[in-house]
Amino acid sequence: MGSECRAKRVLSNVKPMDKRHSYHMTPEEFRAAGNAAVEWVARYLEDVESYPVLSQVEPGDIRSSLPAHPPKTGEPFEAMLHDLDEIIMPGITHWQSPNFFGYFNANSSAPSILGELISAGLGSQGMLWATSPAATELETHVMDWLVELLGLPDLFLSTGSGGGVIQDTASSSTLVAILAARERATGFTTNDTGDLGHLTAYTSGHAHSSVEKAIRIAGIGAANLRLVDVDEEYAMQPEHLERLILEDIAAGKTPAVVVATIGTTSSTAIDPVRRVGEIARRHGVWFHVDAALAGSAAVLPEMRWLNDGAELADSYIVNPHKWLFTNMDFSALFVADRAPLIKTLSILPEYLRNQATDSGAVIDYRDWQIGLGRRFRALKLWFVLRHYGVEGLQHHVGEHLRLARLLTGWVQDNPDFELAAPVTVNLVCFRHVGGDEVNQRIVDTVNASGKAFFTHTKLDGRLTLRMAIGQTYTEERHVRRAWDLIVDAAL
Ligand SMILES: Cc1ncc(COP(=O)(O)O)c(C=O)c1O
Repeated sequence: MGSECRAKRVLSNVKPMDKRHSYHMTPEEFRAAGNAAVEWVARYLEDVESYPVLSQVEPGDIRSSLPAHPPKTGEPFEAMLHDLDEIIMPGITHWQSPNFFGYFNANSSAPSILGELISAGLGSQGMLWATSPAATELETHVMDWLVELLGLPDLFLSTGSGGGVIQDTASSSTLVAILAARERATGFTTNDTGDLGHLTAYTSGHAHSSVEKAIRIAGIGAANLRLVDVDEEYAMQPEHLERLILEDIAAGKTPAVVVATIGTTSSTAIDPVRRVGEIARRHGVWFHVDAALAGSAAVLPEMRWLNDGAELADSYIVNPHKWLFTNMDFSALFVADRAPLIKTLSILPEYLRNQATDSGAVIDYRDWQIGLGRRFRALKLWFVLRHYGVEGLQHHVGEHLRLARLLTGWVQDNPDFELAAPVTVNLVCFRHVGGDEVNQRIVDTVNASGKAFFTHTKLDGRLTLRMAIGQTYTEERHVRRAWDLIVDAAL
């Protein structure tokens, strides 16, 4: 059967909708449900401190409480809110609790939530400038604001050769940077030929796993990722990096990318960005800097030392969705030269052709990311920046840094505990001197209490407790209580 004929048969089975009936929410229903939803979120944030931080459910508990089949007929919004409270909430770990100190902070704020809501309301798809000019232009603008806010090099401004783009995660940001690095290293041929040559990549053993993941996805291969030694503070040793690069060149390989971290995930170690960048430059290697968490500290002028040498970077990431009060997802990727990135990722099918793109006068952010479609995420950061102002952001990030220093002092003053790594920003790594078993008991006891939540890592093979202080609503009393719980759990 021809496709036209098949289409006719299918369409003839579709009944026209009764004009008087629609299943959509009416504007009045939406307004009432919307007010209830905002009220629900406001109440949640007011009460969040009282929830056990770590969800206590067992695997499968949530699914077994849900109906096996989708509802045959529609249900009132109140029923959804009811089940949200009864079924979903027990399975939530409360990242927005001021007692959350685990992993890394992923903070949020009221203006960000409202930006997210309005972005969903607009439902625009900003793949091209032409598909929503404001989404593109606001994104370009807030990314330039971010350069100024964090004191980043002017190279990253859209007004020069570089620019910023919002990605969903740091992992995606690193992936697209590594793809651009790969293409530059092979003279922009791999995309066409599939031939990678013998590329190599370099990062420290303390870099985030997203680096190795990107190296794998980019086809460079984990076997060609060299792990550079770290010093006693877990920061990359530049001499070792250069030795590895020279050995690879001598062996006929092509070093493609070096990734340095400002604030490693385990211990917020700061790689020596300037020295690493100089080495990368000397050998013509793409230099990518991952400042996903710690980069936000640079809102404070006294923390700008973190970014010393960032002007040597080809690409740089910082996640406002970690520590800039902008809820998931929002990772900011900056490039010093946008041309290699666009050359790597751009592909223009006929159905996306339009006058604005052809004129070359606009940015089409689809050419800066893996996916085609993109949400209007710039609204969130725009609202956050306008609500807090530079002053407000400096105040709150500065307060987190103060609390981290305070906790550091308590650890140092207690003979049963020791610091396990330098405290560079808002993460305090420490351990009980009694050894791994005692430290594991502390983590398990405190987390099971529901009153605070923190996680562990291993440094030099020893179990290490980590407290990341960066949740929007964390105050001194929360840090004090968490510390008291830790001390008690060790007894
Ligand atoms: C230094 C660093 N880079 C990358 C990531 C990954 O972030 P995302 O979840 O945005 O991919 C993290 C998250 O912990 C991180 O700490």
